[in-house]
Amino acid sequence: MLIRVRPGWALRESEVTDEGLWRARRRFLSVAAGLAAAPALARAASEATMTAPLPDVRPDPAPPPGERPNTWEQITRYNNFYEFGTGKRDPARYAGRLRTRPWTVVVEGECERPGEIGIEDILRGFPLEERIYRLRCVEGWSMVIPWVGFPLRRLLERFRPTSAARYVAFETLHDPERMPGQHRRILDWPYREGLRMDEAVHPLTILAVGLHGRVLPNQNGAPLRLVVPWKYGFKSIKSIVRIRLVRERPPTTWSQAAPHEYGFYANVNPDVPHPRWSQRYERRIGELRRRPTLPFNGYAEAVAHLYAGMDLRRFF
Ligand code: MTE
Repeated sequence: MLIRVRPGWALRESEVTDEGLWRARRRFLSVAAGLAAAPALARAASEATMTAPLPDVRPDPAPPPGERPNTWEQITRYNNFYEFGTGKRDPARYAGRLRTRPWTVVVEGECERPGEIGIEDILRGFPLEERIYRLRCVEGWSMVIPWVGFPLRRLLERFRPTSAARYVAFETLHDPERMPGQHRRILDWPYREGLRMDEAVHPLTILAVGLHGRVLPNQNGAPLRLVVPWKYGFKSIKSIVRIRLVRERPPTTWSQAAPHEYGFYANVNPDVPHPRWSQRYERRIGELRRRPTLPFNGYAEAVAHLYAGMDLRRFF
């Protein structure tokens, strides 16, 4: 249970305002609350679900222009995490039971120093940064999320990839006792994803351990998930336990499940429709209007060169 304790330095309102005045204000507020109760209650509920703050996080020097991050509530209550059910609200309901300590990530394959690293060493070993990135899903919705993490490149460097490593393959934990959705064969478990090496070492590609300055909630992929902001959300694999450096393009969950619908690259591209719906527009969670989807999710300047000369309709 989470009990909120008023920090020692926080003054009560009664300590700074004349009592008659603040009582009158309270009466006014309790009437106004009739109108404003919904957001206030939502805020209280959202605070109750918040995880612990992460210390020593360097803020993003340049959030995307004009972007307002989605709230904690929005980011942690509307998720895709099929290991906990196929409904958007299932992960928030059921992922709580996943124990994320101890947790180790194995790094193996084409590298000089294969081995494993524990989550505590990851948290201690890499300076954490806040990066405000858009997340765009194939289903047409998007969010703006202040992720806390560090470049994937930093972790890979530790294990010294060899020149034979052309791709990086990732795997989520496979443990139906801890991830009950894996009892159903809706996907070929464990969830798998992959990147080409140049995509994996691109500075925008991060491993996230938190969001909104707090420890990553289970439903968002605790304790460690990938974030590749110019690709559709399904590339951002959650709760990673294995990273393999490989020569050949690795199989990935969605491109295996429905190859004509989901490609290996999955770059956000308004010009390439999904067979069952257009990708031209998106709806930010919390907004009613639709907005045009940007090529590479708005990160074209930083990443378009990775695909120079490639037919992006074929390599979708
Ligand atoms: N990772 C695993 N292991 N299992 C999943 O079902 N869903 C993907 C991706 N990573 C998924 C996953 C999809 S489809 C999306 S859109 C994003 O996670 C959603 O991330 P979010 O819930 O933090 O917004």
